[in-house]
Order: sequence, then structure tokens, then C-alpha cells
Amino acid sequence: MKIIVYGIGGAMGKIVNEVVSREDEVVCGVDKFADKNNFSVPVYSSCKEITEKADCIIDFSVREAIYDYLPYAVEHKIPCVIATTGYDEKELAFIDEASRTIPVFKSGNMSVGINVLLRIAKLAASVIGNQADIEIVETHHHRKVDAPSGTALLLAEGIKEVLPDKQYVFGRNGHTGKRKPEELGIHALRGGTVVGKHEISFFMNSEVITVKHEAESRAVFAEGSLSAARFLVGKNPGIYNMNDMLNQ
Ligand SMILES: NC(=O)c1ccc[n+]([C@@H]2O[C@H](COP(=O)([O-])OP(=O)(O)OC[C@H]3O[C@@H](n4cnc5c(N)ncnc54)[C@H](O)[C@@H]3O)[C@@H](O)[C@H]2O)c1
Repeated sequence: MKIIVYGIGGAMGKIVNEVVSREDEVVCGVDKFADKNNFSVPVYSSCKEITEKADCIIDFSVREAIYDYLPYAVEHKIPCVIATTGYDEKELAFIDEASRTIPVFKSGNMSVGINVLLRIAKLAASVIGNQADIEIVETHHHRKVDAPSGTALLLAEGIKEVLPDKQYVFGRNGHTGKRKPEELGIHALRGGTVVGKHEISFFMNSEVITVKHEAESRAVFAEGSLSAARFLVGKNPGIYNMNDMLNQ
């Protein structure tokens, strides 16, 4: 496959470049701020400069980049794997619009392990959800710009699918009153170089179940995004996620 790596100068983009180059081809990268001389492939500041043909774009960059690469991808009918996190409603609607013309794979976490954790959490929620206080704690490196993580939200949404009455509570501060049973607590820790840690606790009377996933290397997300690209090429327009890929 021929891949465009969007955000190629970033912590993730560099690893995606390495992982893709093992068996596939990075035809070029896009990065507004990277030093273009540090790469063995052409690196552009915007998709408007791209002359290479590609089968898929993999994006690990920033939210606003969608306004550069999605119109380009729609025009050239190129599937997109979106790994960037933290989108607001307007941005999500823009992604949705593009997915009417091209296949888009979007996941706040590209690792297989976290998606297994999601299944375990949904199972636990369906069995003990009504007797348990459920809290999610995520930890990431101090460079991360959004909180809570896209993955924490992904896990919370999965639990809310099973328990629709749950209300998200982001962190706690001040005189909050007693914890209400419908609360689903979501908490973010930031520090050091932690690649990504997610814990979901189910607190019951006199017992606690905690399930946890820790990413030990960023390569796990890069490899997942390449698998997503392989899955996506040839698909009909629409939005796909890890569940679709794991089910296949
Ligand atoms: N889905 C997943 O599995 C997963 C895993 C890890 C990180 N992420 C997400 O990927 C994103 C990138 O993470 P990172 O740690 O590599 O960040 P980073 O800051 O190291 O890299 C971002 C790159 O984007 C470039 N950039 C910034 N603005 C740009 C613009 N307007 N146009 C083009 N390029 C631009 C920067 O120069 C930089 O090289 C974040 O949103 C992060 O949450 C997702």
C-alpha cells in the first residue's frame, strides 16, 4: 500500500513512518511544522502540494488538520484513518460529511488490547452495572493536549451504551455532595512519559473489580493504524471503527 502520513514529524507520525515503511510504502508526509530535511520521503506543509498517488491517509496530528486533508481525500477518493483525538461537534460533523464519499476509520485508540478492554467493561457493566459505582482513570505523558483522553471517552461511551442512565462526571472538586449512583466518573492524570494507561473500577459493597490496560510502546497504535488502513481500502463510504475491524 501507498500511504500518506499526516503529522509525520510528531511523536506518533515518526513511528507510523517507520512501521509502514517495513512492508508498505510511505509516499509522502504532511506536517506544517516539521523540518522537511529530516525525512527520506517528501514532506509537505499541506495536501495542496501533494503530487504522489496514495491508497490511504493515516492521520496522527491535530484536530484542525481535517480541514486540509479531508477535502483533498474526498476529491481524490482516498480512504482516511483518523487517529487524532479531541474533536468537537462541528469537527465531527465535518468528518461525517466526508464519510458520505470516502471510507473513514476513526478510533480514539488504535490498539487491539484497549478494544478488548472495552468489551470486558461492557460485559461487567451489563452484569453488575446497577450495583456498582463505575469510575474511569486515565494517565498520559505531560505533552498530551486534550483531557480526558479519547480512549477514556470511548470506554465511557461503551459503558453508557449498556447503562444509558449514566451521567459523566469529569473530575471532582469542592463540595460535590454524595456520589450519585448514576455518576460515571472520568479522571485524567498527566505526567512524565506514560504512553497511555486506562483503568475502569467497579466499586460494589465490600468488593472492587478493576480492569486495566497499559500501552508500553507507541508502536502498538502505529501498527493498529496500519491494520486499519489495510481493512479500510476497498470499503464503501462510511465511518468504521475498531469493532468493525475486530468483527471482520
Ligand atoms: N488513536 C490512537 O490510538 C492515538 C494514539 C496516540 C496518539 N493519538 C493522537 O494523535 C495525535 C498526535 O499525537 P502525537 O503525540 O504524535 O502529537 P505530536 O504533537 O507529537 O505531533 C503532532 C504533529 O502534528 C503537526 N501539526 C501541528 N499542527 C498541524 C497542522 N495544522 N497541519 C499539519 N500538521 C500539524 C506537528 O508539527 C506535529 O509534528 C493526538 O491527537 C493524540 O491524542 C491517538
